[in-house]
Amino acid sequence: MTSDASMLTILRAQLDTLKQQQLWRRRWNAETACAPHMRVEGHDLISFCSNDYLGLASDPRVMEALNVGVSLYGAGSGASHLISGHSRAHEKLEAALAEFFEPNLISGRGLYLASGYMANLAVITALADSSTDIFSEALNHASLIDAARLSRAKVTIYPHRDVASLNAMLSSSTAARKLIVTDGVFSMDGDIAPLNEIMRLCEIHDAWLIVDDAHGFGVMGKHGRGVVEQFALCSERLILVGTLSKAAGIAGAFIAAHETIIEWLIQRARPYIYSTASPPALAHALLTSLGIIASQEGADRRALLNERITQWKSSVNLQHWHVLESITPIQPVVIGDNAATMTAAQSLREDGFWVGSVRPPTVPVGTSRLRVTFSSSHTHAQVAQLISLVNTLDAESV
Ligand SMILES: Cc1ncc(COP(=O)(O)O)c(C=O)c1O
Repeated sequence: MTSDASMLTILRAQLDTLKQQQLWRRRWNAETACAPHMRVEGHDLISFCSNDYLGLASDPRVMEALNVGVSLYGAGSGASHLISGHSRAHEKLEAALAEFFEPNLISGRGLYLASGYMANLAVITALADSSTDIFSEALNHASLIDAARLSRAKVTIYPHRDVASLNAMLSSSTAARKLIVTDGVFSMDGDIAPLNEIMRLCEIHDAWLIVDDAHGFGVMGKHGRGVVEQFALCSERLILVGTLSKAAGIAGAFIAAHETIIEWLIQRARPYIYSTASPPALAHALLTSLGIIASQEGADRRALLNERITQWKSSVNLQHWHVLESITPIQPVVIGDNAATMTAAQSLREDGFWVGSVRPPTVPVGTSRLRVTFSSSHTHAQVAQLISLVNTLDAESV
């Protein structure tokens, strides 16, 4: 047997183990745009699993802006940003982001990148090295964990939302550079990092705060600036990352921070420098999304979204499973067992509802869950139907 063949044998055995442990994952082929009503592999489903919190992924104005962007700038950028791939559309989006976050940043500037995963790799690997101490939240997104590993910094994980432990860890650090890294809204639990207290620790311990607000941007704060607006943060020490694939409905991500940090990233962040710039048409369309998020319409959509979340929280009534403390559009129903979670998701699909099922390693062992996510596009009736189905399934579960 060749060594390649033995690798295949090992991988097949490992894949079989995933199946036995109910950890096998598959992709679902959507046949229509991301929206509450979707056609998926021949079935009509109401989706409660996207991160399209404001319903912008299939908004006609955003789609039209994408078309216009293609006619102005073509299909692709053709090169990395520092060669010839940077366009006027990228530049305008970055200026708009800087203006949008102006109340929360000092001498702020924006940088647009191809994805949130890449933005986290870029910012952490450019700012940290083996002489840096990184303090990383226990429930951070995989991209932050991977970025910290890649940076070669000393990484200390602090318990979820535990400011006292973080303070103790910072006190014992002698590193010249200290970075605290946290999700703003936690992607699998839906709760929020205590950012006022964490920012205070930054000042006391001369540390920097990297917040990944993938799920708060567009959704939280009066103007949709996310957790930084919710907590009225304003600091030179704040480095904000957010994706433009969720509330903004398209793709890509931004980093917003002091202009010196952004310039450093342009010069030194390898995931930014050594990758082709994303299609300028996306940046062009994102200007429309950002305009909606910042407008009165954006505020109205956030209010509608909050009504749906409140409707869910006030009527979901579980005896066996449990919900988590979350005021955000991410509303997990923790079932625990992998197989039971898959069975519940399958049963909802049979009743025409598509809800994400999340299992380890994305969440800790024993906490498999349905991850229900809300959009301002959901109707009262759709949410009421889902609540009734989930309540019944829970009551019937043993
Ligand atoms: C907290 C968090 N950060 C980063 C990302 C990655 O963003 P993107 O999908 O734009 O790569 C995600 C999800 O996709 C996320 O939930």
